[in-house]
Amino acid sequence: MEITYYGHSCFLVNIGDFRVLFDPFISPNPKAANIDINTIEADYILLSHGHNDHMADLEAIAKRTGATVIANFEIVTWLRKKGLENTVAMNIGGKVTMDFAIVKMVRAVHSSQLPDGSYGGAPAGFIIETGESTFYYSGDTALHLDMKLIPDMNHIDFAFISLGDTYTMDVEDAIVASNFVGTKKIIGMHFDTWPDIEIDHETSVLMASRNERELILMDIGETIKM
Ligand code: NI
Ligand code: MN
Repeated sequence: MEITYYGHSCFLVNIGDFRVLFDPFISPNPKAANIDINTIEADYILLSHGHNDHMADLEAIAKRTGATVIANFEIVTWLRKKGLENTVAMNIGGKVTMDFAIVKMVRAVHSSQLPDGSYGGAPAGFIIETGESTFYYSGDTALHLDMKLIPDMNHIDFAFISLGDTYTMDVEDAIVASNFVGTKKIIGMHFDTWPDIEIDHETSVLMASRNERELILMDIGETIKM
């Protein structure tokens, strides 16, 4: 599995021959000025919630690539009115079996509103179970106890966890979250995009390692193998 970081909470995950993009927010992100959204290919786009810092580039990328968008029912209804036809609607607690993975939508404690002020439904995270491995994508969320249910039903190999504080968990909470979901490998997200979510990388990585966790803070444009 290959993971490319496009800044904020946006990652492209290559699962076999499928390209799965999470929360595309690139062109308004000053830190991601080197990324041209027209070069991004995707077969699927997964969206955690309706805030603009997660879906600013969704329409453009989905329309150009024809990617199938997987999101909650309210967001999918809204996107279909905008002319996006390849969509899969779901909601918290449900799962859909796709060709690239089994996708389960899980709870996130946050808020959600679409860019025009429409109701965005409940914010979410995802558990992605491929033949090869299983990972958790937290979305924007506070630390919450429902995360403890996850390892009862899944073996999580690694987790994308929001940790920039202010709008989501901080690094300390993210370490507890990784414990709740049962993984030692954290890929950080939702940090450094703006001053109010800046984190100290060295201190954060050290704090994780003191708690026997590996915290990976990818550079924008970087690709890693998991
Ligand atoms: Ni948000
Ligand atoms: Mn956000």
